[in-house]
Amino acid sequence: MCGIVGVTGRKNATEILLNGLKKLEYRGYDSAGIYVNDQKGNGYLVKEKGRIEDLRAAVGPTVKGTAGIGHTRWATHGVPSQANAHPQVSADGRFYLVHNGVIGNFRELKAEYLADTEFVSDTDTEVIVQLISRFVNEGMETKEAFTHVLSLIDNSSSYAFLLMDKTQTDTLFVAKKKSPLLIGVGDGFNVVCSDSMVMLSETHDFIELTDGDVVTVTPNEVEIEDEDGNHVTRNQFHVDDDASASEKGAYEFFMLKEIDEQPAVIRTLQQKYINEDGSLQIEDDLKNAIDGADRLYIVAAGTSYHAGLVGKSLFEKLAGIPTEVHIASEFGYNPPLLSEKPFFIFLTQSGETADSREVLDKVNQWGYKSLTITNVPNSTLSREANYTMLLHAGPEIAVASTKAYTAQMTAEAILAKSLGMHKRTQAAADFELGSELTKVANAIQSLVDQKDVAEKMAQKYLSTSRNAFYIGRGLDYQTAIEAALKLKEVSYVQTEGFAAGELKHGTISLIEKGTPVIAIITDEKTAGLTRSNEQEVISRGANVINVVSENLATKEDQIILPKVHELLTPLAAIIPAQLLAYYTSKERGYDVDKPRNLAKSVTVE
Ligand code: F6R
Repeated sequence: MCGIVGVTGRKNATEILLNGLKKLEYRGYDSAGIYVNDQKGNGYLVKEKGRIEDLRAAVGPTVKGTAGIGHTRWATHGVPSQANAHPQVSADGRFYLVHNGVIGNFRELKAEYLADTEFVSDTDTEVIVQLISRFVNEGMETKEAFTHVLSLIDNSSSYAFLLMDKTQTDTLFVAKKKSPLLIGVGDGFNVVCSDSMVMLSETHDFIELTDGDVVTVTPNEVEIEDEDGNHVTRNQFHVDDDASASEKGAYEFFMLKEIDEQPAVIRTLQQKYINEDGSLQIEDDLKNAIDGADRLYIVAAGTSYHAGLVGKSLFEKLAGIPTEVHIASEFGYNPPLLSEKPFFIFLTQSGETADSREVLDKVNQWGYKSLTITNVPNSTLSREANYTMLLHAGPEIAVASTKAYTAQMTAEAILAKSLGMHKRTQAAADFELGSELTKVANAIQSLVDQKDVAEKMAQKYLSTSRNAFYIGRGLDYQTAIEAALKLKEVSYVQTEGFAAGELKHGTISLIEKGTPVIAIITDEKTAGLTRSNEQEVISRGANVINVVSENLATKEDQIILPKVHELLTPLAAIIPAQLLAYYTSKERGYDVDKPRNLAKSVTVE
């Protein structure tokens, strides 16, 4: 949802900004821009519609500087265009502003203060930069005008702002509320970024900002004021991640690299959370907090929500705790009737999803305890929940989530087993987590080793198809809806995930000759029923692909899943679906990692 970078105190500011933006492209990729100045009186603004490579091509050799700001956009207000790309500039050409977030009352501000100003873009951001300029022209200092404008922005808004004033060439003015933003600390230089990962080539030391902070960044100083104007220091943290973890290497797309990394991700989670004697490393405090709860509420969006649906079975069956799973954007404004002692679990790869954050805000106001399960340490949802459990999946760059999904389900299995042991349930005692996860990792390895099967299926059934269905029952249904999301988001094949038995209650009318229907069958109890449902669609012309556990498979089934524990079947069953999505998108010639209209980290509601 837009990514921003800034740097001051480095001779190669342009290169640092472009490289940073390239790595931030997962946050938005419809247009991009930079502003740099060279402290010799020259300032350069370059903006382009399209990808960072288009921007790079537009940046000529003369565009050099020692300080600058950059932005990659996911459009909210105004179509993707050069005019709407950031930095937005004040009419007098003095102020340059990049922004991640949404200004709720920009129309009101425009009407009240800027009725006579001519606007060149449709963005809410331009209103802010024009306002700053207006107040400076009326006599305020830049920072004073900046903070004054911040005070006019309403509470529904979110922002990470980076502002430059042409007359203060080495200074970055920074403000943050609800949108992520970090300061990276260097020796004689400083950087600002939406995500630490993109600046690891420059520094490993970062300062986390708190909502309401206003920061002045120069090459040798980072001066932070809280929302009341008090000078404050904020936590500094070190990020060890190897920058090469976010490189594609020999892969054409990150998505395939990340699919292939899944066995390793599961092994890492085993190492992090399972001791040699089989005991689990889940803090006692967290177990006690959940022990005191009468119901778990899992809140998440998209793929993370689908991982939550699988988590419900794990928590209920292994730990005996009733569990509800909610879509964050729904829960935020229409919360269900809560139990007496709820405990909240936020599942989020990025730790920044605005819809989930809105719920966490409310949960904190209500005074309930929460855990965030996330891939990103120090992310907003991690900081604002009482407890954090990390996914250790390494950076996930492709917009379509793959390894974070399997990591989330693995983490839920670990937590559910740990809670079950704490509660002394028989189901938890019988569940040999370590060896079951090893089986899953091996199963995934064997599935990713047979990519050609999925590739051929994608070519034969999906590459030219307009629509498709995934069907399944029980946990296979949960896999079906995640599988459908994967296929539609990267290949644009309209796909629905359906409870196999429900199809005949209406949706079967969409089946026509050649419609691909992919059935997931891992549950002995319902395998026969799903196979009957398959016959119903075959009789209406569908092309059926079966993804079946080896113990239930017949010679006709196309994709065979190695047998894993019944509660962990979604971890194996999703792999062919991820591969089908990948190869269908590739076959159709799309940019698999950056599907249209999407962004990786969704920081607006
Ligand atoms: C789909 C996908 C999204 C995310 C969703 C939540 O492949 O990645 O549906 O799962 O936007 O994001 P996080 O997990 O970062 O909260």
